[in-house]
Amino acid sequence: PKNVGILAMEIYFPPTCIQQETLEAHDGVSTGKYTIGLGQDCMAFCSEVEDVISMSLTAVTSLLEKYGIDPTQIGRLEVGSETVIDKSKSIKTFLMQIFEESGNTDIEGVDSTNACYGGTAALFNCVNWVESSSWDGRYGLVVCTDSAVYAEGPARPTGGAAAIAMLIGTDAPIAFESKFRASHMAHAYDFYKPNLASEYPVVDGKLSQTCYLMALDSCYKRFCHKYEKLEGKQFSIADADYFVFHSPYNKLVQKSFARLVFNDVVRNASSVDEVAKEKLAPFTSLTGDESYQSRDLEKASQQVAKSLYDEKVQPTTLIPKQVGNMYTASLYAAFASLLHNKNSSLADQRVIMFSYGSGLSATMFSFHLREGQHPFSLSNIAKVMNVGEKLKSRHELPPGKFVEIMQLMEHRYGAKDFVTSKDATLLPPGTYYLTECDSKYRRFYAKK
Ligand code: ACO
Repeated sequence: PKNVGILAMEIYFPPTCIQQETLEAHDGVSTGKYTIGLGQDCMAFCSEVEDVISMSLTAVTSLLEKYGIDPTQIGRLEVGSETVIDKSKSIKTFLMQIFEESGNTDIEGVDSTNACYGGTAALFNCVNWVESSSWDGRYGLVVCTDSAVYAEGPARPTGGAAAIAMLIGTDAPIAFESKFRASHMAHAYDFYKPNLASEYPVVDGKLSQTCYLMALDSCYKRFCHKYEKLEGKQFSIADADYFVFHSPYNKLVQKSFARLVFNDVVRNASSVDEVAKEKLAPFTSLTGDESYQSRDLEKASQQVAKSLYDEKVQPTTLIPKQVGNMYTASLYAAFASLLHNKNSSLADQRVIMFSYGSGLSATMFSFHLREGQHPFSLSNIAKVMNVGEKLKSRHELPPGKFVEIMQLMEHRYGAKDFVTSKDATLLPPGTYYLTECDSKYRRFYAKK
């Protein structure tokens, strides 16, 4: 099979959100801490009628409908998520309700979990299946769905929520350059969820930033090495049109791209200009550890990288800045932002993706974009996702309401025997929502 990759995408995020500016004032932190310090504009969150299952039901039904895909054409369904609703029953099995209706129960795949990396694992499983001898010719479907919520404190503004569905097949407009893949996996306690009674992670914020940047360096070095071995020429930032990062908050994305520029300087890549070389030369003798601690390097490299960042990264940042960290969906929401902003000029471009999940697992991989054919064209994907309209028609809630909902959700986590307010008035038509969890913990959903 040729040009295996993503044929179609749909994104859903809750219409309920809070402005980071409002949250700054409410939390009593200095003005600009969340908006400039973290680089975040707004944060979406699930109200009591939504969860990762309802969001993924919405994304999948909408994708099938809008691209005219018959449910019997799906042969594999993989879900990536780190939001635990059930320790045994997969989210995938909830989604089977959609397919059972049309008599299709012959669908491989279950859930993949490792922090924000599960979506990438799910995507690779589907792509590998299509490229394998067990492929039966049908489409794969990948779903990334998460609700990112943190206890009160500095991590709380880095929450978010969304579900993304991606259709996988051949002759895709978003094709994998399968040979160019580099991973870094290791054991770390940077962010984890050991307390099964709570939805909140245990997080060492500073360590998680360093782990992320170390994994990025390691993946980039290996990626360059593999590229050079296969292509017989050097790889540098100049060889890709866009860089898309897992986006817990925008500041880390700015630092990440600056880190790649620094890597190119250290590698003495031929594309690096004299100014960059001169400004970053003093830091090239730092040890790895020193380089992660150096504030001067961080500042200098961000400054040197600024114009390239505006060109190669900024178009990917819209949804993560507006919705927040969507865990497994974050990287793909960043990519969706690129399609939204640049869909008419992306043909024949190369996009480098960096996926990171705490704990930790990370992979850098590459897409080659082609315009494609309706309905599987870049312009149609952007049209279907309708990101501008979805962002515009949201409802901003005041901080008091946000905190109240967080408290209710803490109470509901792992609970049984409750009915929701069934108040779906804020949800757009076609959205699934949670109506009830019965005395046997069984969850029930309705469609608006
Ligand atoms: N105006 C402008 N900038 C400000 C202001 C202000 N008023 N106040 C603070 N800042 C800046 C700081 O200088 C800092 O920027 P810098 O890193 O460029 O120096 C930034 O805001 C963050 O402030 P800190 O005090 O360093 O950190 P904080 O205690 O707010 O915690 C953190 C931030 C660690 C990201 C926290 O939100 C967190 O733990 N989040 C969850 C973990 C996470 O997302 N990790 C990422 C990888 S793992 C994953 O994806 C889950």
